[in-house]
Amino acid sequence: MLNQEAKLIETIKKRRSTRKLIKKEGFNQDLILEILKESMLVPSAFNMQSYRIVALFGEKSDKLWDLIENKLFEKLGIEKFEKTRQKEKIQGFRGGNGTLVFFEDMAVVDEKGNIAKSYKDTFPRWSDQGSGIIQYAVWLLLTAEGYSASLQHYHQLIEEDIKKEWSLPPQWRLISQMPFGLNNEEIGVREFISFEEMVRVEK
Ligand SMILES: Cc1cc2nc3c(=O)[nH]c(=O)nc-3n(C[C@H](O)[C@H](O)[C@H](O)COP(=O)(O)O)c2cc1C
Repeated sequence: MLNQEAKLIETIKKRRSTRKLIKKEGFNQDLILEILKESMLVPSAFNMQSYRIVALFGEKSDKLWDLIENKLFEKLGIEKFEKTRQKEKIQGFRGGNGTLVFFEDMAVVDEKGNIAKSYKDTFPRWSDQGSGIIQYAVWLLLTAEGYSASLQHYHQLIEEDIKKEWSLPPQWRLISQMPFGLNNEEIGVREFISFEEMVRVEK
C-alpha cells in the first residue's frame, strides 16, 4: 500500500538526483509495481499514452548495468574509462534495488498522428512530453516511498542491446534509465535561476 500521507509539496522538495545508491533491505517489488500503476494516471496529448516501462529488479538490473559498463569500456578504451571513473559511477547505479527503463512506442505516435493529421508533426514532441511527465510522476512516487533515484541517458549506446536482451518490440524507442534504491551520498546544494527569470507577471 502506498504512503497516503505524503504531502505533494514536501515530496517535490525532497526529490533530488541521487547517483550513489544502496539496496533497501526487505525490498518489495510489488510496491514499485503499485507506483507504476498509479503513474498511469498522468496526462498525455490526445490520451495517447505512448510511454512504456521495463521494470528491472535485482539481478536483471545488474545485467543492464553490466551491459552499459561493457559498452562504455568498448567505446572509451581502458584509459578514458578509468580516467572518467565510469566503474564507480555505474556501481552507484547498480548498487540500488532496480532500474526502470523508459521507452516510447513509436507505433502509437505514428498511429495517433495519422488520425489527427493536422497535428502529425507535433506528436513526437507530445510523446516526449508525456514521457517526461510520467518519469517525474514515478520519481515523485518513489520519493514519497523513501526511495532515491536519478535519470540516466545511455540510450544511443545500448538501445539495440537492451531490446535484444529482453526481446522488446523494434518500434520502441529508448528514452532513459531510472536506477532507484536508497541514497548513499551527500547531495550538494542546487542552484536556481531567479523566480523573475522564469516567471513574468504582466501588469
Ligand atoms: C530530462 C532530464 C535529463 C537528465 N539527464 C541526466 C543524465 O543523463 N544523467 C544524470 O546524472 N542526470 C540527469 N538529469 C538530472 C539533472 O541533472 C538534475 O535533475 C538537475 O541537475 C537538478 O538536480 P536535482 O535533480 O538533484 O534537483 C536529467 C534530468 C532531466 C529532467
